[in-house]
Amino acid sequence: MNVVEYPMKKMQGLSRIPTGIPGLDEMIEGGFPFPSVILVSGTAGTGKTTFALKFLCKGAELGERGLYITTLSEPTQWMLRFASQFDFVKPEYFGNEIVYMDLGAILREMDGNKILDTIENKIAEVIPQRIVIDPVTVVGGMIRSDYRTFLFDMANMLKNWNATTVVTGEVNPNDLYPPEIAYAVDGIILLMFSEEAGARRKYLEVLKMRGTNHLTGRQSIDITRSEGIVVLKARF
Ligand SMILES: Nc1ncnc2c1ncn2[C@@H]1O[C@H](COP(=O)(O)OP(=O)(O)OP(=O)(O)O)[C@@H](O)[C@H]1O
Ligand SMILES: [Mg+2]
Repeated sequence: MNVVEYPMKKMQGLSRIPTGIPGLDEMIEGGFPFPSVILVSGTAGTGKTTFALKFLCKGAELGERGLYITTLSEPTQWMLRFASQFDFVKPEYFGNEIVYMDLGAILREMDGNKILDTIENKIAEVIPQRIVIDPVTVVGGMIRSDYRTFLFDMANMLKNWNATTVVTGEVNPNDLYPPEIAYAVDGIILLMFSEEAGARRKYLEVLKMRGTNHLTGRQSIDITRSEGIVVLKARF
C-alpha cells in the first residue's frame, strides 16, 4: 500500500490531522497535532472504543495506516463483530489499512520494557500514522514494573514515531481521567454521561490540547451507527 500524502493543515507551526469525529476538528483548530499522544478518558460505556475506531477509519479512508492495539485479550473476530455495527467501518480495512494487535496475552508475562519493545517492533513493522491503545489503563494492574515509569516511557517512545496516538483510559465514576497518565500526554478528551431530568445525556470535553486554542466546556454528543461519535452543534 502506498503511503499517501495526507491532508495535514499547518497552523501555528503544528501539523494537524482530522480526528474523524464530526464537530471535533472545529473545536481544536483543525485536528489533532501530528505527531502527538492523546488520552480519551471516560467511564465504562462512554464511547472510548467507538472514538478510537472512528479515528482509525478516518485515516484508512485517507489512505493512512493504522495500528489498533488492544490490551484486553480480545481476538480479531471479537473486534470485527463490534466494529461491523458501524456504517463507517469497511471490514476490508482490517488486515490492510488497519492492523490489529492483541497485547492482552503477553501483559502478565512481561515487564514494562519488554512490553514497550513489543509495541515498538510492531510500529516499526507497520509504520502507522495513527495508533490506538485501548484501554491503556488495564496495563496498570498487570505489569510488574512501575506503571508511571512505563507510561512516561511509552509516551516518549510514541512521540518519536511520526504518528498520532489515541490511548483510551477507563476511570471510575466521579473521576475525570487517570492521573498517572495525564501529565505525559499532549491532549486529554473526556467522554461522559450525565443524568439530567431523568435522561442520560452524553458529553465530550477537551480538557487539554497542547499548542491549541481549543473550545472549553462540555459539548453534547450523540453516538450513531452511521457516524460513531458526533459533536452536536449548540442549539439555542
Ligand atoms: N448504534 C449505536 N447507537 C447508539 N448508541 C450506541 C450505538 N452503539 C454503541 N452505542 C453507545 O456506545 C456505548 C459503547 O461504546 P464503546 O464500547 O465505544 O464505549 P467504551 O467507553 O469503549 O466502553 P468500555 O468501557 O466498555 O470499553 C454504548 O454504551 C452505547 O451507549
Ligand atoms: Mg471500550
